[in-house]
Amino acid sequence: MEFTVQAPAKLNRFLAVLGRRADGFHELELVTTVLEGVLDLTDTLEGEPASALSLAISGPTGAGLVADASNLVIKAWRLLEEAAKRPLPAHLHLEKRIPHGAGLGGGSSDAAAALRLGNRMFDLGLGEDKLLGLAARLGSDVPLFLLGGTVLGLGRGERVFPLRPVPLEPILLVHPGLHLSTPSVYRALQDVGYPFPEALASQPGGAAPPWRNDLTGAALWVCPPLAEVRDALRDSGGEPLLCGSGSCWAARYASVQARDMAAEQLSGHSGWGVWHV
Ligand code: C5P
Repeated sequence: MEFTVQAPAKLNRFLAVLGRRADGFHELELVTTVLEGVLDLTDTLEGEPASALSLAISGPTGAGLVADASNLVIKAWRLLEEAAKRPLPAHLHLEKRIPHGAGLGGGSSDAAAALRLGNRMFDLGLGEDKLLGLAARLGSDVPLFLLGGTVLGLGRGERVFPLRPVPLEPILLVHPGLHLSTPSVYRALQDVGYPFPEALASQPGGAAPPWRNDLTGAALWVCPPLAEVRDALRDSGGEPLLCGSGSCWAARYASVQARDMAAEQLSGHSGWGVWHV
């Protein structure tokens, strides 16, 4: 096709829940790395002008995804049409490699890719501020994908600021083959109790922000079998961290060799997906 945009996954290395807001969303402080260059965890969105808007989905993790108006790619396209004040008829093809319901931001990244693709395909000339505004209307995690790199997220996550890149340790991502719903994990925070609000600024200083996710208890409460992957990562010598609202876990290792040995061990487990970062 004529136009192609990559849609990488993300890793929240720090996710602090600071409180619940009157609008039902949670006030967050996030440090997120967009995993550019991890090609087997990157979706691809292609487009070409056509007589009407259509979306086809394929790829290793595309099964079961719907390509109708509920898809974030279509929602993003409709927002672009609203901003452009005209129809933007195109045929879009989404190749999915990021698992959904995994906390890796796949749907949000696809939406950000659609904004960039449409802007470019139809020469809309929408600037970064305008695109960030549209992205925030699509979801809390969409704006960070427009920035890329390492991003500080505030508010419900949609207020984004570029950070100096944080070098990533040797990391494995493991997907347990389970899919979690983000709203149900946030709702469960009320059942497990809110973590003590401790903002990033109050953490001890250091080169890299700490490895922390305040949604971990809630995700385990919603889906207790998640603990199996966490324990296996610990047993393999890694320091596990839940990805976003789950279901994927990341683990960092002291060395590349330790990480690679763990990968070999864990990829023998049927039903789990394992990626090097
Ligand atoms: O913004 P997004 O549509 O991705 O959020 C999905 C759901 O996750 C929200 O409807 C809300 O239940 C929950 N959420 C939240 N606080 C946030 C982000 C998301 O409670 N900061």
